[in-house]
Amino acid sequence: MENESTERKTGYFGICLAVFTSLEKRGLLCVDISEEDGGTGLDYLAYAIAMEEISRGCASTGCIMSVNNSLYLGPIKMYATPAQKETFMKPFLHGEKVGCFALSEPGNGSDAGAASTTARLEGDEWVLNGTKAWITNGYESEATVVFATTDKSKKHKGISAFLVPKPTEGLSLGQKEDKLGIRATSTCNLIFDECRIPKENLLGEPGLGFKIAMQTLDAGRIGIAAQGLGIAQAALECAIDYAQKRMAFNEPISKTQMIQDKLANMEVQIESARLLTWKAAMLKDAGKPYTKDAAMAKLAASEAATFCAHQAIQTLGGMGFVTSMPAERLYRDARITEIYEGTSEIQRLVIAGQLLKQYAAH
Ligand code: CAA
Repeated sequence: MENESTERKTGYFGICLAVFTSLEKRGLLCVDISEEDGGTGLDYLAYAIAMEEISRGCASTGCIMSVNNSLYLGPIKMYATPAQKETFMKPFLHGEKVGCFALSEPGNGSDAGAASTTARLEGDEWVLNGTKAWITNGYESEATVVFATTDKSKKHKGISAFLVPKPTEGLSLGQKEDKLGIRATSTCNLIFDECRIPKENLLGEPGLGFKIAMQTLDAGRIGIAAQGLGIAQAALECAIDYAQKRMAFNEPISKTQMIQDKLANMEVQIESARLLTWKAAMLKDAGKPYTKDAAMAKLAASEAATFCAHQAIQTLGGMGFVTSMPAERLYRDARITEIYEGTSEIQRLVIAGQLLKQYAAH
């Protein structure tokens, strides 16, 4: 296993280290953790707004922030014991350490209930075996929430959640993925080979892992929606700025109806997705069900991000295709928002499922 503290200073994540320090100073790595637990003590709406603004500047930084806030601290906030919080929450609130979330596997991404990573209890230890894939913050993280099955015959009811510190003997990292976008974050496999952790590192009850993962992703999807909004907003601003300056046929191209059509469509998609995102966050803050709303927000905002980044490049023409302008980076960064924390296809399944449940109850 590589020396992670060195990696943190020099790797991909090193690019963002100054920004990371700044996030920590502003309390943006633990936005909705209560002040009593040492966090910033704001609500999820505040988190969504902060995520959008950070991602408007840099979607990679938004991604690191979202994994620590929603995917790592989220389930710990909901299920950790006071002793677990001491070890796995406190040092992860203010940038001393960063966490990650390990659910997907090489053989299953969308079908999260098909986890094949196993956990067996031997005396006072859990022994983990298997591989987790596409883990954001995989290199720099100093702990992970891992989902593993203790009984495959029980399908999703056999899955439990575990807290694993990094480094731990028996846990190694796969190669860093070379990615289309969010290139200032690390993504890699986590490989568990007879990896032993104390019995008390079980998070929540045995067999509760799938529910913990789903609840975590409900909240996480609001964060990814906000990340998509930030990318979409940045694309719109880039397109407006260029269109007002670029002359063609003796006038700025912003005067042409073709370009105005693009700007108007971008604005409508962004504003609709923003309202969905804020609604989902407000429902969560009010303690009301929000599974469908979070899925709708993520679907709309990630599609808005892809659409707006595409339209921004089209507005910039050749300048949209070169790295000296931000449009091409926004285009590459937008793409993952339709994939991670549930693809757009999965969001549609969740929305339809919730809708049918709602109507069946009438
Ligand atoms: N909250 C609480 N419980 C939930 C729930 C939710 N949102 N959704 C489902 N459940 C419960 C159900 O009530 C059911 O419970 P019972 O067995 O007690 O009745 C149980 O979970 C099974 O539900 P389903 O039959 O609906 O489950 P399913 O196997 O059909 O899967 C799914 C549903 C929505 C497709 C789910 O597998 C899913 O969300 N898949 C996508 C996974 C995903 O988003 N992966 C992203 C990885 S994380 C990532 O991207 C990391 C990163 O680094 C950024």
